[in-house]
Amino acid sequence: MERVIKNKKILVTGGAGFIGSNLIESFLSCGNQVSCLDNFSTGKRENLKEYMDHPDFRLLEGDIRNYNDCLEAVSDTDIVFHQAALGSVPRSIKDPVTSTDVNIGGFVKMLFASKEAGVKRFIYAASSSTYGDHPGLPKVEDRTGKPLSPYGITKYVDELFAANFASTYNIEVIGLRYFNVFGRRQDPHGAYAAVIPLFVKKLMNHEAPVVNGNGSFSRDFTYIDNVIQANHLAALADRQEAINQVYNVAHGERTDLNTLFELIRDIAGRYDRRVLEIKPVYGPERAGDIPHSLASIEKAKNLLGYSPTHNVKKGLEEALEWYWENL
Ligand SMILES: NC(=O)c1ccc[n+]([C@@H]2O[C@H](COP(=O)([O-])OP(=O)(O)OC[C@H]3O[C@@H](n4cnc5c(N)ncnc54)[C@H](O)[C@@H]3O)[C@@H](O)[C@H]2O)c1
Repeated sequence: MERVIKNKKILVTGGAGFIGSNLIESFLSCGNQVSCLDNFSTGKRENLKEYMDHPDFRLLEGDIRNYNDCLEAVSDTDIVFHQAALGSVPRSIKDPVTSTDVNIGGFVKMLFASKEAGVKRFIYAASSSTYGDHPGLPKVEDRTGKPLSPYGITKYVDELFAANFASTYNIEVIGLRYFNVFGRRQDPHGAYAAVIPLFVKKLMNHEAPVVNGNGSFSRDFTYIDNVIQANHLAALADRQEAINQVYNVAHGERTDLNTLFELIRDIAGRYDRRVLEIKPVYGPERAGDIPHSLASIEKAKNLLGYSPTHNVKKGLEEALEWYWENL
């Protein structure tokens, strides 16, 4: 990666999770001091084990719903990368109360603590779910619809709070609307696992993955390295018009679930030929799912200099190599 942040004091919330742990790895490798705040509700200690003895790494076990934990975590910090949240649309439908407490209550506490501590920039994980029922494709940042799930509502409300804080207080905010991120360390286990690790795990076990619906639903699957790049660029952005904005972070390429399955099966077949015989089974559509998602990445290209390095196939090749070595 060409443009990276260096010599900064950084806090990553949700750093024991999939995206957060990848950010920590990248920030440490570029010579930053990195703190992590996590309550390990969905994150894993294993994701941090490589950094525990790193002299520039500090772990704070705590909860973003606890304001004192937030205050302790943000002290002496230049930039916050706020990733902690409860992901998953189905989880938020099953338990909207906890998702709201964490994703909105915790978000505001982190934002307010950051402002109180004099943090210069607050970069946060927003979501493509904010587009809700808006039918337009590709998704352009200022054209959003009504969120379709409690999760989508929480991520939309976070953007409102961030914009309000930017105009009310002297804190810079940047929201990165991630589109279906995948890659190393994404958890394949549990009821709320994302589609790519779920398909990979099933194939590794010689089982047929379940496709929700008829497989025609499509997503802009985004490899983790593209997300890492966008976070570095958001931290580096210095043009005024680039700050206090939200950006789509995606590859700008749409893959339907049937094609995704075939891509994964073909790559998995390089490791284990038996998976080439497996066909998916089809189940009901999931509540709260939008049929298609595809990002315009023009805004991030123009204002941040974003240039994704991995399309879905290249990303899947790297991800599967990791799963085969680590699962
Ligand atoms: N993975 C995706 O495709 C995707 C897409 C859009 C947005 N996002 C957003 O990106 C962020 C990271 O997602 P992820 O996929 O890495 O999820 P993840 O579940 O792997 O990571 C979330 C982390 O936050 C921590 N956390 C949860 N509640 C907490 C609390 N109350 N206090 C402290 N820590 C807490 C968890 O323990 C976990 O380590 C989230 O904000 C998510 O909404 C992810």
